[in-house]
Amino acid sequence: MSITTHFPRYPLAFLPTPLHPLPRLSDELAGNFRLWIKRDDQTGLATGGNKTRKLEFLVADALAQGCDTLITTGAIQSNHCRQTAAAAARAGLHCELVLGGQPPAVANGNLLLDLLFGAELHWTTRENRLNRLHQLADELRGAGHRPYFITYGGSDPVGACGYALALEELREQTAALDIEPDLIVIPSSSGGTQAGLVAGAWVLGWDVPILGISIDASATELQKTVAELASQTAGRLGKPHTFAPADILVNADYLGAGYGVMGELERQAIRLLARGEGILLDPVYTGRAFGGLLDLLREPERFARLFGPGTHTIIFWHTGGSPALFAYAPELI
Ligand SMILES: Cc1ncc(COP(=O)(O)O)c(C=O)c1O
Repeated sequence: MSITTHFPRYPLAFLPTPLHPLPRLSDELAGNFRLWIKRDDQTGLATGGNKTRKLEFLVADALAQGCDTLITTGAIQSNHCRQTAAAAARAGLHCELVLGGQPPAVANGNLLLDLLFGAELHWTTRENRLNRLHQLADELRGAGHRPYFITYGGSDPVGACGYALALEELREQTAALDIEPDLIVIPSSSGGTQAGLVAGAWVLGWDVPILGISIDASATELQKTVAELASQTAGRLGKPHTFAPADILVNADYLGAGYGVMGELERQAIRLLARGEGILLDPVYTGRAFGGLLDLLREPERFARLFGPGTHTIIFWHTGGSPALFAYAPELI
């Protein structure tokens, strides 16, 4: 079974992204596990990341609807906003971003890149972001523009299709390498990445567990979000299925002191992968998820109880985010 979509796709990503082993880290784990990494930090758009695959479908949809401006929202260091701004520049569209917080004295990391890509910024409180985005859409329409509204993280069924196809890409790579993953691990926040992968696995008939390490939501909340979005995405891909929250594999043990607050878990994971394998994680998403995975792997018996005794080959899906490292410099070194 393969995934066929008839939806327009605007090419933004350099695909396939690499899949390669993490040999030194695997050896450190006393040979119990073989770790691989899927490099969506190398999608090629504006330093890469998981939003590129979603934006291929979102931008194409915007163009098909005759829109002239992409609008979306996120945190100050939003990777999603940075990639949306770059995608808009590539497609010849305007981009307006609603960011939560106060403008800092010096723009750094993703915020600096938003500005370089020519995005117009609107500031509001974190809680008011979605309201402000709706208001902005009305203002733009009133001024004769045609805005295309992209929700948090590009996580709707249009964007999530990008990750259903990504799973097919991974399956082709694992088949060519003759490896059988026992578990895929990703950071999960607005849920579109995990939902796309889960829907992709369903359409492909590939029985591979996909664990989302929650970045900012309780397990119950995230399972509900992902189940709903995966159900909508499966329907959009022509193989309807209703996922129940209990079908969605989530770990919410690593929320630390909250969204965007880098703790020792993230700091150590970032250092370990940087020094051990020459790979950059980020302080908000991949640092937290990889740190969580390492913590789970440190106790092989507990890990076997959670995921089954045959779980040895693990693919960590790197979803990008490295520009945020620069904004966290004082806390990292
Ligand atoms: C680097 C990175 N990884 C993971 C995620 C989470 O992806 P999703 O929102 O699709 O759950 C994000 C979301 O912004 C991100 O920027």
